Amino acid sequence: MIIQKANGRTLTTEPKQGIEFKMIAKTMFGLEEILADELRQCGAKDVEPITRAVSFVGDMRVLYRANYTCRTALAILKPFAEFEANDEQELYDNVSKIKWEKIIDVDGTFMIDSTTSGEIFTHSYYAALKTKDAIVDRMRRLFNHRPNIDTENADFKLNLHIADNKVTLLLNSSGESLHKRGYRQAVGVAPINEVLAAGMIKLSGWKCDCNFYDPMCGSGTLLIEAAMMANNIPAQYYRRENFAFKRWSDFNIAEWKDVKETEDRKIGSGDFEYEIWGNDIDMGVLQQAEQNLQYAKLHKDVMLYHGSFEEQEPPEGKTIIVTNPPYGERIKVEDLNQLYTKLGDTFKNLYGDRCEVWLITSDFEAMKHIGLHPSRKIQLFNGSLDCRLLKFELYSGSKKDKFADK
Ligand SMILES: C[S@@+](CC[C@H](N)C(=O)[O-])C[C@H]1O[C@@H](n2cnc3c(N)ncnc32)[C@H](O)[C@@H]1O
Repeated sequence: MIIQKANGRTLTTEPKQGIEFKMIAKTMFGLEEILADELRQCGAKDVEPITRAVSFVGDMRVLYRANYTCRTALAILKPFAEFEANDEQELYDNVSKIKWEKIIDVDGTFMIDSTTSGEIFTHSYYAALKTKDAIVDRMRRLFNHRPNIDTENADFKLNLHIADNKVTLLLNSSGESLHKRGYRQAVGVAPINEVLAAGMIKLSGWKCDCNFYDPMCGSGTLLIEAAMMANNIPAQYYRRENFAFKRWSDFNIAEWKDVKETEDRKIGSGDFEYEIWGNDIDMGVLQQAEQNLQYAKLHKDVMLYHGSFEEQEPPEGKTIIVTNPPYGERIKVEDLNQLYTKLGDTFKNLYGDRCEVWLITSDFEAMKHIGLHPSRKIQLFNGSLDCRLLKFELYSGSKKDKFADK
């Protein structure tokens, strides 16, 4: 068994520093390859993208680095038990055999995130419930007392993964989801998830080697993620919650400090010399963007403009535009179609061939009103919304004119 409790805390005893073990990094659909690259940069080996996750091998230093620096990871998980279960009773019996008293503090709290696939366990909620019952019953038998469930801020986060009859239990080393960067002071109407925002920027291929512009920036998520990349600021630099791995018995504070200090020393070390601009029609959300930027001390790195996107030219020189226009519920269909028509016109008339546009939307009908053919379409999900990240390469005049003399 790799886990035990000491001094009333939830702790693990293995793997020790330097020993390599398998991990799973969770991400969003469509960002697996991006996360795989980030993990390789952390020193991970045997990196394999799977759906909404990446499996890899590394030691505790890799685990610390992955948690601290990966912009497209939601959580880093460490598998610790694997067995087969062909029905609910077998799941209960096998979970009961695990020495949970060495894992979970009887006075502490825990929670279980579960995913199931296959025909045996069709409801992930019931599988989690059965697992919870087995843990709690064992603890009650031993102590006449049980740990409580806390779905918000548990001391101990467990992941239950079932594919057909294969059950895997994993420890969540991150704790609070890694999309919660900590820089949000104010939230706009429809802020984009930070992991999705970072993933969109990385998918656009922006390497901090030209300007960056979001003409509908809202509370500034894409701008802040871009400015963090431009300044080499680690993804979790502003994190407020503790990482769960800090409660593990093999938590090596010296190693962790070394990882953090090494990454923090890189801040500002790049030679980013371009512009990062944002624009929005709504003064209220722009003020929220300003507040968020101030908190992150990035307000001097990003220029904010107020107005409709068709009034604001992008910065001079080569510019990548990554944006998240309105879609979904709040705007009437005809207004949305008009907005997308205006967007297409603005791309053609104002942005010119020095700009490349990447736009995410779930509104496939409104999308047609842009009137330009995307050169790439990448499927992503914004929450449960099936989206496309569209790339538009722009040419002054028509594409035909551009290549007329070739
Ligand atoms: C989905 S939100 C963007 C959210 C943003 N990515 C964030 O993380 O907060 C879309 C934004 O487009 C802005 N918007 C709508 N019409 C606009 C227009 N004509 N010009 C500029 N901004 C506009 C809205 O005010 C809103 O803030």
